[in-house]
Amino acid sequence: MIYKKNILCIGAGYVGGPTMAMIAAKCPQYKVTVVDINDKRINDWNSDNLPIYEPGLDVLIKTARGRNLFFSTEIEKGIKEADIIFVSVNTPTKNFGQGAGMAADLQYWEKTARQILSNSDKDKIIVEKSTLPVRTAKAMERILNSASGTIKFEVLSNPEFLAEGTAVKDLENPDRVLIGSRETEAGLKARNELVDIYANWVPREKIIESNVWSAELSKLTANAFLAQRVSSINSLSSLCEATEADIEEVAYAIGTDSRIGNKFLKSSVGFGGSCFKKDILNLVYICQSYGLNEVADYWESVVRLNEWQEKRFVLNMLSNMFNTVAGKKIAVLGFAFKADTGDTRESPAIYITMGLLEERALVNVSDPKALVNARVDLKDIKDGIDFIEDPYKAAEGAHAIAVLTEWDIYTKLDYKQIFDSMVKPAFIFDGRNILNHKALFDMGFNVFAIGKAPLKHF
Ligand code: NAD
Ligand code: UGA
Repeated sequence: MIYKKNILCIGAGYVGGPTMAMIAAKCPQYKVTVVDINDKRINDWNSDNLPIYEPGLDVLIKTARGRNLFFSTEIEKGIKEADIIFVSVNTPTKNFGQGAGMAADLQYWEKTARQILSNSDKDKIIVEKSTLPVRTAKAMERILNSASGTIKFEVLSNPEFLAEGTAVKDLENPDRVLIGSRETEAGLKARNELVDIYANWVPREKIIESNVWSAELSKLTANAFLAQRVSSINSLSSLCEATEADIEEVAYAIGTDSRIGNKFLKSSVGFGGSCFKKDILNLVYICQSYGLNEVADYWESVVRLNEWQEKRFVLNMLSNMFNTVAGKKIAVLGFAFKADTGDTRESPAIYITMGLLEERALVNVSDPKALVNARVDLKDIKDGIDFIEDPYKAAEGAHAIAVLTEWDIYTKLDYKQIFDSMVKPAFIFDGRNILNHKALFDMGFNVFAIGKAPLKHF
C-alpha cells in the first residue's frame, strides 16, 4: 500500500489512541502509527480489550486497525519514517522542585523532543497535541534546531478538546479544531498541511487558525473557563441548601439567558478528571511567573472552591448522620470522575472515600467500569474498604448511599428493594442530582441532594 504521508503519534493514551483512530478512519490515504513506551498499553490497543473504555471506540478502531492504523512500541523506527509527528504524552503537574504542585512537568515532553531530534533524517512537522504551557513551542523549536544540519522542523500547536465519555462523538463532530503555527512561509505551509488532514471530515469553517501562542493559551483558557462554570454553580449550591432555593431551578433560570447558555451548569460533588485541576494550576503558575498575581489568585480560587465542595460533601454526610459515621457502612455508587468512562484520575470519589475512611466508616465502592482503577487509587488502604460491582450488594446492610458518578444505571435501580435491605434510618446523598428525591423520601429515605433543601423524616 502506498500512503500519501506517514503520521506518527507519540503517546497512546486517552488522547493519542482515539484521536489517531479518528484520523486513520477518516483519512485512509495516510498511514497512522501510534507508539508508546508502555508495552501493555500497546498490546491492549492491538487486542479486543482496549486499554480505555470509551463508547464507540471499539468500532472506530476496528475500521482502521491493520489497514492504515498501527500500534507499536518501535518509537525510533516510527520517528524515522514519519513526515508528521503528533506528540500526545502526559504533562502532569510537577511534584518536585521549582513550581512543585503547580507547574507542568515537562520531562516526558522534552525527552520526546530529543528523541525526535536524534532519530530524524528528513524534514518533519511536529504537532503539539498534549496540553502545554504557552510558549512551549519555543522550547521545542530550540531543542529540535539545536543540531547543526539541514533538517527542518516546523512546530504546530493543535490542542485537543475532546471530553472523556464522548471522545468519539467529539472527534467526529468537533465544535472546532484549532491549529496554531508560526506566521512564516514555512509555518503557514505546515499549518495548511494539517488543515488539509482535518478537512477530510471537519467543515472548513470549524477549523480555526491562529498564531502558535494563541493556540497553546486557548487550550488552558478553555479548560479554565469550563471548570470556572462548575465552581460557580457549585459555590451557589451551598447557598441554595441554606435558603431553600433549588440549584437546578436557578441553573435553568440563568442558563436560558442566551448570553450565559445552559451547558456546564450541573452542580455536583466537584469536577474531577486528569486535566481541569492540573491545567488551571499550570495557568496560575504561568501568571505568577509573569508577576500577574491577581490573575493567578482569581483562577486559583476555582480549584480551591472545588476542593471545598468535595470536603463539604463529607462534612454534610457526617453532620446529618448524627455527627459520626464510625463503624457505619456506606455504599459509594460511582467512582469514575464522570459517567461513561472508567477513568478515575482526580475523581471527587477518591477524596470523598478517603474522607469517609478517615472518619472510620466502612466503605463499599461500586462502579460499572472503574473498579480496576479504584483498586489502584485505594491500594494503600488496608481496612474498611470493599469493592462490589453490584450496587444492590454494595448497599445491603448500609446506613447510607452516596451517589458520586452520574451513571445512568443508578437512575434505574429498584430503590425500594435497596431501602428494605438497609439499616434504618436510611440516608441517601445524591452528589449528582440524578435521582427522584421526592419518590425516595416517600419510600422512607432521608434525602440530601446538592443545592437542595434536605428531605428528612426527623
Ligand atoms: P495518558 O497518560 O493517558 O497518555 C500518555 C501516554 O504517553 C502514556 O501511555 C505514556 O506511557 C506515554 N508516554 C510518555 N512518555 C513517552 C515517551 N517518551 N515516548 C512514548 N510514549 C510516552 O495521557 P492523556 O490523558 O492521553 O493526555 C495526554 C495529553 O493530552 C495531556 O497533556 C493532557 O492534558 C491532554 N489532554 C487530555 C485529555 C483527556 O481527556 N484525557 C483531553 C485533552 C487533552
Ligand atoms: C474536559 C473538557 O471538557 C474537554 O474539552 C478537555 O479536552 C478535557 O477536559 C481535557 O483537556 O482533558 P473531561 O475532563 O474529560 O473534559 O470531562 P468534562 O465533561 O469536562 O467533565 C469534567 C468534570 O466536571 C467531571 O468531573 C464532570 O462530572 C464535572 N462537571 C462537568 C460538573 O460537575 N458539572 C458540569 O456541568 C459539567
